[in-house]
Amino acid sequence: MLGLETSCDETAAALVRGSVPGPGEILANIVFSQNEAHAPYGGVVPEIASRAHLEILDGVIDQALKQADLALEDVDAIAATAGPGLIGGVMVGLTTAKALALAMDKPLIAVNHLAGHALTVRLTDGVAFPYLLLLVSGGHCQLLAVENAEKFRLYGSTLDDAAGEAFDKSAKLLGLAYPGGPNVEIAAAKGNAKRYALPRPLLGRSGADFSFSGLKTALRQLVQGGDINGNDAAASFQAAVIDILCDRTKNALAMFRRDFPAVTSPCLVVAGGVAANVAIGSALTVLAENNDFNIRIPPARLCTDNAAMIAWAGLERHAAGACDPIGIGPRARWPLDPSDRGQGDQRQDTA
Ligand code: KG4
Ligand code: ZN
Repeated sequence: MLGLETSCDETAAALVRGSVPGPGEILANIVFSQNEAHAPYGGVVPEIASRAHLEILDGVIDQALKQADLALEDVDAIAATAGPGLIGGVMVGLTTAKALALAMDKPLIAVNHLAGHALTVRLTDGVAFPYLLLLVSGGHCQLLAVENAEKFRLYGSTLDDAAGEAFDKSAKLLGLAYPGGPNVEIAAAKGNAKRYALPRPLLGRSGADFSFSGLKTALRQLVQGGDINGNDAAASFQAAVIDILCDRTKNALAMFRRDFPAVTSPCLVVAGGVAANVAIGSALTVLAENNDFNIRIPPARLCTDNAAMIAWAGLERHAAGACDPIGIGPRARWPLDPSDRGQGDQRQDTA
């Protein structure tokens, strides 16, 4: 399966081989990050992103084929992210996939970017359905039960910012370079997390929704108050995020047990860019162990946006007999659980 990913600021192409339930084999995984192009603006600029995707996607696909030592004819089907995301970028990837599918007479598989994140643990570890998913990225923060490759049950999502968005905005406040998440983590490792008392919205409340905007506002006020230690502020912020994620996830573990009592060895899966944060991963590991859940966190390069996850999600749909019409359109919003009337992708322009 050839996979293309262009929904945000990574231009990516990958080739993946395998069968359901996985694990699969990654034959090539090329990710071209546009970080440098967006860094001056402190966030992703949609128009710059779509132009960059358009300029380099062909070359990225060539590189992936070369790395896998394959020709386009060898590919069984072509998968591309069809949403949710920045619409211009999604159009570039999806249209490219359509052109290749038409020219090569191969099936086209339209993939939900979030399903890509959600199914990555099957590519890496062959984790069986159902499992509980904490999806934490720049555009999303949700807890869901993953019942199969196309069926997701939403337990909770953010009422305001996504977790990664909170990291990126905090980085900006602290004067750390874009992309903020990894830089906040590095600063936090050098700081004292108990130095500043920051709020933890929704903590102790029932349900599995998230809220980060009060935390962000408190950090802004702290910074505006002047004379703060940046590393201590980063550490205090990250500690608050960890508490919020663990508290909300704990409730979702109980919801999952209630809904799937027959699952004897349940698994918590963490996915999305924020899952690359080692401190968050460690805290969630302790939480899972204390609640008799297994935990799986894909390696960092497969947590952040990539096309191997899109190829794998496409492979799962293809294996189930799916094939999309050439007229299928890109979607800026596309929730995994159709009953989710909230956010398909709340981040349209982070700059
Ligand atoms: O999944 P992803 O690559 O793109 C989206 O689909 O959004 O996630 C990117 C997000 C960014 O907000 C980035 O700051 C955050 O993930 N992120 C991190 C870390 N690495 C990436 N946040 C905290 N700690 C990290 N180490
Ligand atoms: Zn993503």
